[in-house]
Amino acid sequence: MPPFRAARFVFRTGKFSVEDKAPRIEPPVIHQVAIIAMGHASPSHLLPVFARADLAFERGEGAWLFATNGERYLDFTSGVAVNALGHAHPHLVAAIQAQASKLIHMSNLFKSPDGERIAARLCEASFADEVFFANSGAEAMECAIKITRKYQAANGRPERYRIVTFEGAFHGRTLATLAAGGQEKYLEGFGPKVEGFDQVPLGDLEATKKAIGPNTAGILIEPLQGEGGVREPAHAFFRALRQLCDDNDLLLVFDEVQTGMGRTGELFAYQRIGVTPDVMALAKALGGGFPIGACLSTKDAAIGMTAGTHGSTFGGNPLAIAAASAVLDLMLDSSFMERVRRSSLLLKQKLASIVDRHPDVLAEVRGEGLLIGLKAVGPSPELVAAFRDEKLLTVGAGENVVRLLPPLIISEAEIEDGVSRIEKACVKLSAAHAKRKAVG
Ligand SMILES: Cc1ncc(COP(=O)(O)O)c(C=O)c1O
Repeated sequence: MPPFRAARFVFRTGKFSVEDKAPRIEPPVIHQVAIIAMGHASPSHLLPVFARADLAFERGEGAWLFATNGERYLDFTSGVAVNALGHAHPHLVAAIQAQASKLIHMSNLFKSPDGERIAARLCEASFADEVFFANSGAEAMECAIKITRKYQAANGRPERYRIVTFEGAFHGRTLATLAAGGQEKYLEGFGPKVEGFDQVPLGDLEATKKAIGPNTAGILIEPLQGEGGVREPAHAFFRALRQLCDDNDLLLVFDEVQTGMGRTGELFAYQRIGVTPDVMALAKALGGGFPIGACLSTKDAAIGMTAGTHGSTFGGNPLAIAAASAVLDLMLDSSFMERVRRSSLLLKQKLASIVDRHPDVLAEVRGEGLLIGLKAVGPSPELVAAFRDEKLLTVGAGENVVRLLPPLIISEAEIEDGVSRIEKACVKLSAAHAKRKAVG
């Protein structure tokens, strides 16, 4: 086999180019690379906790992902509600590149002028007075749980540490956030469940009232359950929760890890609902793909969080802050959310007509903004696979729902394209169902 030149992709100002000065690779090396790429060289050394699809991506551009096998996919996952600006957005890339060449990490032992600036921008855009930066959604939630407990302790009520949560919730994979989510399938085998969470059915006000007792510190809820199956209780329920918290001096905590940063068509979902929490967790889209989480709180709610009560080595790291700052630059422009709402309307209208045409495949469209759920009639993994066959990537959720989470910058043409892929998948599934019925 003759030697050949490997194409090396070089990243310049948001565009990929092929550099022709890549090193020569000799045949034996090529052979090894090919074997590794095919996954035959050795068993995976990654902890097998993810049921990964047999597909790998090497680059992305806007709403598109390019697989290592040369195929192009329309991305309606956005890294599970993370890549809100799409892939390789030039503004985000430039911000990360510029910061990387100045300062990648700086500990929280010292002041963070950029961290101060972005915290101020988040507070200006929300109900909050103070922000703690973390690295993930679960960590942002851990901080929210700690603020809630500490609020009561700092007000002389340390016995109030319990938090009311809701069935179907997902708050992360740390031991405390798993206990808050309360899903048995995730808790099983990990020892005693972290104490202090009382779960009630979503939207059940009477059960919520009953769950509040002398040890209750707060109520924790997702404005719109993502993992749980794109489920949203009535706005009146949120208003009632606010009232319950006010009446009993409890904190109302919103987990906006998935809904926050524009996903539902407002910067934060609480703004759409019209009910303001005391504490809010963010992550996912906040860094546009760079890992960062944040816990936002009123000054009053965070009264117990004095020096030494919480911390993180990486939280608020300069690179993450630069990414979040670039995301906010775009999202704080009023036209950004208008566009998300327009895209949402278009997508939901088109999906509703597909549901009408294929009632044997799709039962319902639900959700807000660009957090949309398609309830499947058959098993939802079959639907995800059928979409993937049409080169459209989607995400599963609870209640037999498939989530559509396109990047918030998706164009109308790309929405039309995605919808036509969904229609094609439905036509094929309908035909397969009909055939199975005829045989059966
Ligand atoms: C609502 C919600 N909270 C918390 C989390 C946990 O976030 P992370 O995976 O970044 O820890 C998630 C993740 O899907 C989420 O959807």
